[in-house]
Amino acid sequence: MKLQKIVVIGAGTMGSGIAQWFTQQLCSVELVDNSQAQLEKALKDIHTSWDKLAEKGKLSNAAELKTLISIKMIDQVAKDADLVVEAIIENLEIKRELFKKLDAYFGPHTILASNTSSFPIHLMAEAVERKDKFLGLHFFNPATIMKLVEVIKGKDSSEKLCRDLYAWFDSKDKKPAFCKDSPGFIVNRVARNFYGEPLRIVDTENEAKEKEVDAILKEVGGFKMGPFELMDLIGIDVNYSVTCSVWEAYDKEPRFAPHKLQKQMVDEKRFGRKSKRGFYKYD
Ligand code: NAI
Repeated sequence: MKLQKIVVIGAGTMGSGIAQWFTQQLCSVELVDNSQAQLEKALKDIHTSWDKLAEKGKLSNAAELKTLISIKMIDQVAKDADLVVEAIIENLEIKRELFKKLDAYFGPHTILASNTSSFPIHLMAEAVERKDKFLGLHFFNPATIMKLVEVIKGKDSSEKLCRDLYAWFDSKDKKPAFCKDSPGFIVNRVARNFYGEPLRIVDTENEAKEKEVDAILKEVGGFKMGPFELMDLIGIDVNYSVTCSVWEAYDKEPRFAPHKLQKQMVDEKRFGRKSKRGFYKYD
């Protein structure tokens, strides 16, 4: 499989990481957002990250990588991309609207993929004609570091396409995994309790606080990050949308229910690291 020209749509936490990772595989990458300010910030952050790696002697081709990535508005990108990865806001209607436009814009060979955390792939595929070339590719945060990519075959995605993409990621520094098109796929379904139970603990008087829960899970559980640190990294807003969507998809099963703290923090714009305030403060 040849993947040379990549378009990543959404230059937030995930899109910028995904774009950086594809560039590091020497693909030519066009990064798109509907906010010019967000695009400029993402490009600056990616360049800074490469400069730091170069200073530490961990990257020898920073200058070459910088020539491979560009930032664009959607109507400026080339129409012959091999793969488009969508990483915009976790909202089904907005994603469907976008995919309808992308389907009309890109040439027939372009593969369309969503990085959604929780929406069924077949519901997004309804918006496009090229249903066989539509699938889920779910990266993890930070996308340049986390190895796992969930490869999600929708109802009409081509089996061969999914296998070819799996093999392509496997040949790079990723560990792909096939997933069924079920709400939350594998990781985000399992992870609901990793966030839900700690939220109930800190909301109960005389029980542990965020720092203690994070420390215990790291020291005893061997996790790299505690649940509160991880929620701050993911984005409280994104994690709340994912929780709601998985809960709805499982007919509001109580074990998947969002916690009131999540909504409260979103209302207060405490989104985590990206807004410098979440469960912790970041200056
Ligand atoms: P984010 O809020 O950091 O970034 C979203 C970006 O999309 C923003 O820059 C926004 O300006 C842009 N955007 C919104 N609507 C757009 C449109 N119509 N056209 C172009 N750009 C648009 O969100 P984040 O965290 O990067 O999440 C993106 C997707 O990745 C979501 O579907 C989320 O569920 C998924 N995801 C998030 C993870 C995380 O840890 N944050 C992990 C894995 C998947």
